[in-house]
Amino acid sequence: MKIVAVLGSPRLNGNSAFIAGCFLEAAKNLGAETRSFALNALAYRGCQACMCCKKTSEVCVLKDGLSEVLAAVREADVIVLASPVYYGDVTGQMKLFIDRTFCYLTPDFHTNPQRSRLLPGKTVVFIQTQGLADATVFADVFPRYREMMKFIGIDEAHLLRGCGLSKQDDIRKHEDVLKQAEELAIRITNRNASLG
Ligand SMILES: Cc1cc2nc3c(=O)[nH]c(=O)nc-3n(C[C@H](O)[C@H](O)[C@H](O)COP(=O)(O)O)c2cc1C
Repeated sequence: MKIVAVLGSPRLNGNSAFIAGCFLEAAKNLGAETRSFALNALAYRGCQACMCCKKTSEVCVLKDGLSEVLAAVREADVIVLASPVYYGDVTGQMKLFIDRTFCYLTPDFHTNPQRSRLLPGKTVVFIQTQGLADATVFADVFPRYREMMKFIGIDEAHLLRGCGLSKQDDIRKHEDVLKQAEELAIRITNRNASLG
């Protein structure tokens, strides 16, 4: 099983990356192949709406830091999207990446029931961290992105969420979230292994 983590925080050792790390480690211990991309370390642009991926190309024609990430996600069984909340949403780094997943849609996705170029059976794990401790605030973020993931052909989505995390190592005190990450990784890895 291949897992690709896309890290949206500029803090490489921050809360969201730490939760992603726990998830990846537990999966790796059970034999999963894991890769991580820290978006902030890459040079890339947002989607240019050139529509080349709908006219002449199966892949995004922009050749930049996201090319490898987009290719790795295509090959992955599980995609981890980890981001802090910035002003009520994912970070700009993550949003630019998500916009570029437009290349996974077929040319006639508006009318074609075969909307996605991605193989079926992928799972997304969405990791959301925030400074505010009140979990009712920003509870809208995951449902919105879950819908977008469904739209590009990823039907199964799970949420790992840490609230009240202001300093970058606050997550270490939230053992419940880390345990959830580990348990989810074990569940998904074992399930996918049994499916062959
Ligand atoms: C530019 C910026 C905007 C932020 N906006 C919010 C926000 O709207 N709501 C919130 O609860 N926390 C906000 N935060 C706090 C982060 O979401 C929080 O500290 C998170 O745990 C950081 O995760 P990280 O360590 O993975 O970067 C913001 C932080 C920054 C730097």
